Amino acid sequence: MLLQMNNITKSYGNVTANSNVAFSLRKGEIHALVGENGAGKTTLMRILYGMENPTSGEIRLEGKPVSFSSPEDAISHKIGMVHQHFMLFPTFTIAENIVIGREPSSGIGFDRKAAAAVTEQLGRQFGMPVDPWKKVGECSLGLQQRVEILKVLHQGAEIIILDEPTGVLTPLEVKELLIAIKGLATQGKSFILISHKLQEIMEVADRITVLRDGKVTGTVEAKDTDAEKLSRLMVGRDLVHMSRNEIPAGKPVLEAAGITIAGSKTKPLLDGVSLHVDEGEIVGIAGISGNGQSELIQAISGLMKVDTGSVKLLGQDITGEQVKAIRERGLAHIPEDRYQWGVAKDATVAENGLMGHADRHQRYGVLRGSGIRRMVGEWVSRFGIKTGSLSTKAQYLSGGNLQKLIVARELAQNTPFLIAAEPTRGVDVGAMEIIHGELLKKRDAGGAILLISSELTEILKLSDRILVMFEGRIVGELNADNATEEHISLLMAGGKAVG
Ligand SMILES: Nc1ncnc2c1ncn2[C@@H]1O[C@H](COP(=O)(O)OP(=O)(O)OP(=O)(O)O)[C@@H](O)[C@H]1O
Ligand SMILES: [Mg+2]
Repeated sequence: MLLQMNNITKSYGNVTANSNVAFSLRKGEIHALVGENGAGKTTLMRILYGMENPTSGEIRLEGKPVSFSSPEDAISHKIGMVHQHFMLFPTFTIAENIVIGREPSSGIGFDRKAAAAVTEQLGRQFGMPVDPWKKVGECSLGLQQRVEILKVLHQGAEIIILDEPTGVLTPLEVKELLIAIKGLATQGKSFILISHKLQEIMEVADRITVLRDGKVTGTVEAKDTDAEKLSRLMVGRDLVHMSRNEIPAGKPVLEAAGITIAGSKTKPLLDGVSLHVDEGEIVGIAGISGNGQSELIQAISGLMKVDTGSVKLLGQDITGEQVKAIRERGLAHIPEDRYQWGVAKDATVAENGLMGHADRHQRYGVLRGSGIRRMVGEWVSRFGIKTGSLSTKAQYLSGGNLQKLIVARELAQNTPFLIAAEPTRGVDVGAMEIIHGELLKKRDAGGAILLISSELTEILKLSDRILVMFEGRIVGELNADNATEEHISLLMAGGKAVG
């Protein structure tokens, strides 16, 4: 066995993140690690990567006991990790990001040509070609993921840990990534793959280990199981499936007319975008990320100035107003990037829950703690947010649990209009059903929701109408009842046939 983790336990105060976990990896194997949000997947991998010390337990590489006190230690033992959140420098080129910390140098100074050559060679060797000179900030998320993997390969990794690598990718990018992983595995690289997308796991994994509440509930050969059995091992119950009721849409809540944002490139970021979202309606925006969806959300919510065009909320012109003013008029927002916009990491769960709700919980300028705790406590139980307590700092929540907290907070604003950008990113299958149910409940109660998602299945399941964005424009509008994945994919690719 290439790698063995035996009896791994990790406690943080009264939270046991891992309890007597056994995990192993064979050479050339793809071993998937799955489980609900907060089950302990990332913690186990942070231990393997030298970022955390286990409370007890041992790690063996090719039979020999090892212990890592830092990622550098793990890297020197040929273990690499691609984190749940990208850690690249957007203003650096692909080559600079890949060789960082291991730069080829010419005498003094950094040899850019050599770095580019190394990068090109790596890409060729591992079947993941990249343009070394391109700035990472200008790369699609799929390409950034490829850069992350090339970076660990450049570090000499033989064991590669991927923590939710497909969370932000489009279906086509996911396909490419899975092919690349399989190719690398046949070349002898070994993978530990964390994902909530069971279909993907069934497609590439050799073995699957399920964690629940920090304990292993099973390790199975992929060929002996299926997505349904896995989700039962993960959740411990069958899932309830939600479906949409037919209800008529009401008056317009959000109206955008001819929004254009020029940006600095030759093509505008947004080019004459018009849309409306009505009472009792979920309008889904489909598109490959980077086609104007983020700018559209930012323009509507006041984070970005528009050059021409107007935005109306409940009939009132809100174009150019401040974020706070727009929110007070009736907009809530589940942001696309929870780390940039969604949370204060150093603040507690209760404090993060309070954001945007403070007015309701103060009297004569004094916050009333009991009301806050009751409110946030109710979300914790309804959404199944796993947290040590309400006073736990947000940074200690697992990725999916943080996402649930933000979704709960924004839904509880009870606003007429909600922007839901990637509302289920990183959440487990059970939590996804809960969030979908809550979004539909809001819509059934007359709420207007603009849904942006890279998951076509999510768009198709929740939307009443679907708009497709391509290069800053809306290139198609489909009725949910007759929309198909194929038709949407075609429009997403600019109407050209996809190969
Ligand atoms: N530094 C820390 N301090 C306190 N608690 C922590 C810390 N790190 C993790 N935890 C807790 O350990 C548990 C496991 O977290 P972990 O991040 O491993 O979950 P996960 O399985 O990766 O979940 P997700 O699918 O949401 O990413 C969670 O309850 C989390 O709150
Ligand atoms: Mg995690």
